[in-house]
Amino acid sequence: MGETVFLDGKFVPYNQAVIHVEDRGNVFADGVYEVIRYYGGRPFEMGEHLNRLERSTSAIRLPIPYEREQIVAWADELVARNSLEDAVIYLQLTRGHAPRFHPFPPEPTPTLFMTARPAVRQPAESYEKGVGCVTVEDKRWKMCNVKAIGLLPNVLARQTAREAGALEALFVRDGIVTEGSSSNFFVVVNNKLRTHPEGPYILSGISRHVVLELAERLRIEVEEVPFTLTELRQADEAFLTSTTLEVMPVVTVDGRTIGAGVPGPITSDIAEAFTARVQRK
Ligand code: PDD
Repeated sequence: MGETVFLDGKFVPYNQAVIHVEDRGNVFADGVYEVIRYYGGRPFEMGEHLNRLERSTSAIRLPIPYEREQIVAWADELVARNSLEDAVIYLQLTRGHAPRFHPFPPEPTPTLFMTARPAVRQPAESYEKGVGCVTVEDKRWKMCNVKAIGLLPNVLARQTAREAGALEALFVRDGIVTEGSSSNFFVVVNNKLRTHPEGPYILSGISRHVVLELAERLRIEVEEVPFTLTELRQADEAFLTSTTLEVMPVVTVDGRTIGAGVPGPITSDIAEAFTARVQRK
């Protein structure tokens, strides 16, 4: 953890950054968040992250009390103050503190904080050889497009993955594979890329969006359609995308080998293009 965090307009030493016990984020998970990657001291897709933050806050009817430019300036300064180059910013906005009572407080005082950590990549071997996933029942709500801080189903799913020696848990809702506990998921079938469509059952991932753009440029056909666990098992390739993982090949699901059991050619092309895109930016 960097030594300085940002809290409500101030840069504060980590151990002195304190939020009220009755902050609604704490008692109701009444808030939203973003995870933003910095490469070489510069943000990646900051505009897209702020667009999504605006969509999340409007879905929960929480006005953002600051201008976009102000938030970007604070995030940049936080990365710089912590002497970081390759960093991950966690940004959280809640409906602030008030005596515990379910309806919105009449005059909310939102709490905004940000932390900056050095970006830690998975070991190179994971990208070279691919990783394993497990599947879990998707018991989440029907607002998964909102980047809400209430992540207990995601936490439980991820712990299940860890205990099985897998990197990620894939959610399955009524037989359909939706996404990972903190990532989006793609398969390759007959040289076509397939991923769950946007809507209430997945988060509209920024990395997912970048991959869709790259696929178009690489002339890889894309189908944003639901697919079943059975179809996943028969897929030729599979991979995860997220701000922290970027493009991560998946070679086993629930212990069964996917495709040839090694990162496939389309996954590798996409991963390479993603890296090039990051370097260009
Ligand atoms: N998670 N789906 C879920 C449920 C997620 O939590 C995330 C990101 C994604 C990928 O979105 P993006 O490409 O914008 O990072 C998909 C972040 C990294 C987290 O919670 O740490």
